[in-house]
Amino acid sequence: MSKIVNPKEGYNLYADNYKKDYRKLESFDNGVFFDFFPEKACVSVELGVGDGRVSDSIKKISDRFIGIDVSPKMLKNCIKSHGNLELVCADLDFSIPLKENSVDFAVAYFLFVHIKDAKGFIEEVNRILKKGGVFLFNLIHQKKPPVLKAGKQKFKIKSYYHIPSHIEEYLDYFWFDWEREDVLDGKFWVSKIYRAVKT
Ligand SMILES: C[S@@+](CC[C@H](N)C(=O)[O-])C[C@H]1O[C@@H](n2cnc3c(N)ncnc32)[C@H](O)[C@@H]1O
Repeated sequence: MSKIVNPKEGYNLYADNYKKDYRKLESFDNGVFFDFFPEKACVSVELGVGDGRVSDSIKKISDRFIGIDVSPKMLKNCIKSHGNLELVCADLDFSIPLKENSVDFAVAYFLFVHIKDAKGFIEEVNRILKKGGVFLFNLIHQKKPPVLKAGKQKFKIKSYYHIPSHIEEYLDYFWFDWEREDVLDGKFWVSKIYRAVKT
């Protein structure tokens, strides 16, 4: 049986294998996520930046880019692949270590599944965004975490399945003006992309 580990331990263990999953991650929406990027942003933050798989795309449109992640090993690999980025190591469940009204574009791509307190997280994103700032994120249809392998170890990373209607209630609760794009595989959704603007 595989053990369940927290995201910090899990992504530290899995960091060197993460690149092998790029194709699988890309297959969730085949690039649709990027269609929702603003043309330009002054300050952008990627919450759960990982090893920087999409950081270049965000950096390209931003005057300043900040990446935050709980796993030091993922951040180390991010620097290895992308050079000297502005990175912060922090646990984003419960608080985001940035000033209020300081961010124009906040991205959380494949992160929600690891966030326990979704409402508290959305409240924090609302706090750090400037008025008119954009919060772009996805939800994936993953009810159980996959078994991952690193060397001889098999493990699952602690995950939470957030019901989309609950997330939408939280967006409404904090007065976000939001839209959603469902990415389907046949009749079923595999990914939901949300673009939420702070009002
Ligand atoms: C599936 S990866 C996504 C990485 C990147 N956004 C991408 O699209 O490739 C999830 C990332 O979120 C980070 N993460 C998970 N839980 C976190 C938390 N509570 N606080 C900060 N980062 C977290 C993990 O360490 C991991 O790097």
